[in-house]
Amino acid sequence: MKVQEQVSQAFRARYGEPPRWWVAAPGRVNLIGEHTDYNDGFVLPMAIDRAVWIALRPRADRLVHLHSLDFDQSKAFSLDDFRNEGHSWAEYVKGVAWALGEAGLTLGGWDGVVAGDVPVGSGLSSSAAIELAAARAFATVSNLFWDPVRMARLCQKAENRWVGVNCGIMDQLISAAGEAGHALLIDCRSLATTAVPVPAGVRFLVLDSAAPRSLAASAYNQRRAECEAAVHKLQAAYPDITALRDVSPAMLEAAADRLAPNELQRARHIVSENERVLASTEALRSGDMARLGSYMVASHASLRDDYQVSSRELDTLVDLALATPGVLGGRLTGAGFGGCAIALVLPAAAEGAAETIIARYRAATGLPGSAFVTSASQGARQVAGPA
Ligand code: GLA
Repeated sequence: MKVQEQVSQAFRARYGEPPRWWVAAPGRVNLIGEHTDYNDGFVLPMAIDRAVWIALRPRADRLVHLHSLDFDQSKAFSLDDFRNEGHSWAEYVKGVAWALGEAGLTLGGWDGVVAGDVPVGSGLSSSAAIELAAARAFATVSNLFWDPVRMARLCQKAENRWVGVNCGIMDQLISAAGEAGHALLIDCRSLATTAVPVPAGVRFLVLDSAAPRSLAASAYNQRRAECEAAVHKLQAAYPDITALRDVSPAMLEAAADRLAPNELQRARHIVSENERVLASTEALRSGDMARLGSYMVASHASLRDDYQVSSRELDTLVDLALATPGVLGGRLTGAGFGGCAIALVLPAAAEGAAETIIARYRAATGLPGSAFVTSASQGARQVAGPA
């Protein structure tokens, strides 16, 4: 059964009437441009055809009643008085209520049933999906104008300050502003977005390593700090720069001796990755999929060797993908340290390649691993009832 039908049925069973509205917000894969968002750089993600759904109706008071089918749990809070109660799916919804309230928006209460098919904790941005679904729910109930960039920023604030994860803007912005059939080039400094059509002649595979991302948060923060330290030292040579976005490969090379070896490696990844994102956007536009594939492979190598955020499992997945007929490129996607890789593949080979790669991955690692073919989908939306 589709997720929309699941939340509808559960809503009827709980409240004895059909929901008034449905909202949905997708997870994402990033085609290329990793760890560049918090360096004011470029990213090229697409929203995937898996989403968090909420079926809802308005309430006359200022309470929010939520039931999660995935966690089989109900939570309620008042918009006039709510606290952070630690680690729970409901904190994403509360965090969004907090950030919208801080922005001066007046919110109404609602009853909602939540469920999703974005795998949780796999690096496909299930957190951004529930945040944007919650924002869309509040916007619908409270009659707020839907500005995707503003909503993405507020959801990022919820993630940074309420949930306590120091992420960049990419995941929230692609979940807010994704377009069906398109990847989105995002300039993370201006937050300008450009939709780039995904040619009909390719598919993307999501390859889930099923490996835990235990060190992800601390290593992520450490990488951010290393990038900031590199900028600080480079400013002695280039006073006008404010982020690694402003540094070209030639500038970096000329000032390389100012940086510690780890800072130079991190900076080299960011500076080269920004160039690969822009080149990949051109390759995608012109339908040169072999070229796009080669940039993805170069991105993975840079993340593995210079940024050092890959893992044995992700390297294995990418190596196995590249050895499979019909695969044009592959790389880890998202923060790394576990989670998922993606592969660029010819349509006729897609299903077979997914099976081959995962069978070999299981044999090589003993981990369950899984794969699915995905397509570029629309961002956060209000939807008509199920057919
Ligand atoms: C996570 C963060 C994003 C981004 C990526 C790495 O997904 O949430 O903001 O930094 O890692 O590209």
